[in-house]
Amino acid sequence: MEIIRSVAELRSKVSGIKNEGKTVGLVPTMGALHDGHLSLVNRARKENDAVVVSVFVNPTQFNNKKDLETYPRTEEADAELLRGAGVDYVFMPSVEEVYPEPDTRQFALGPVADVMEGAMRPGHFNGVAQIVSKLFDMVRPTRAYFGEKDFQQIAVIRRMVELEGFDLEIVACPIKRHDDGLAMSSRNVRLTPEQRAVAPAIHRILAASVGWADTLSLEQVRQRVIDKINAEPFMEVEYYQIVDPLTMQPLTSWDGPHTAPAVGCVTVYCGDVRLIDNIKYNK
Ligand code: PAJ
Repeated sequence: MEIIRSVAELRSKVSGIKNEGKTVGLVPTMGALHDGHLSLVNRARKENDAVVVSVFVNPTQFNNKKDLETYPRTEEADAELLRGAGVDYVFMPSVEEVYPEPDTRQFALGPVADVMEGAMRPGHFNGVAQIVSKLFDMVRPTRAYFGEKDFQQIAVIRRMVELEGFDLEIVACPIKRHDDGLAMSSRNVRLTPEQRAVAPAIHRILAASVGWADTLSLEQVRQRVIDKINAEPFMEVEYYQIVDPLTMQPLTSWDGPHTAPAVGCVTVYCGDVRLIDNIKYNK
């Protein structure tokens, strides 16, 4: 495995591989790697001749300075995990290397980026589009891998790909969870032991709500999820929306026109740690 720090070296190494006719899988990450990230890497390993993983805490997607400062950074441990996973190249650049000058590009992401995370974190998705478009341009991967944990992010990236005309396949991978149901996240390490003990309630309640949908209206299910999570200690729901999986637009009834499956997307503050998760309904 090679650790690459410069854009020029990344470009030349990857174009060398592609000139040999090999396929390249890219897994963009912000590091503090866990089994969720590794599930993407393993999938990329299976489906491509070579795998590139980027580890870069992208400042332009943080709309909260404290969140950027407290974001966990574990570069050496990350490199070891990736070596063990059989990765060929790890791109670990500095901020100056990626952004030699400020990126002022504004992507016309449209409605998929206006709701939920887009509404709560202004500028977040534009920053994601900036970094992911730069990575796609540098690597020109055959396939790029993203986790459904960040369900809306996938829709935004598909939109960016359409806008920029990148010729690649976006592969959406299922959410990896701890045994108790909590979705794996780099931010989980910031939970206190007491908060960590109640955090699995998020998935437990979402999973139970799939059954409630057999008898309750969409709005009743939505409200009950919010009430049940809020009743747990430390927890406060920021939003719970049940959306069309392609357009991300909130649905108001199970029977209205939408692409199946409807997906419920939640953001919960557990103390001051912001956790996100989602669930697919049989609707
Ligand atoms: P990060 O939060 O590090 O996540 C990197 C990738 O891992 C994302 O595609 C995310 O959805 C996926 N992932 C995280 N936890 C997961 C889990 N429990 N199961 C499955 N996949 C999981 O998302 C980002 O970084 C950034 O926004 C990035 C796309 C790298 C741009 O900076």
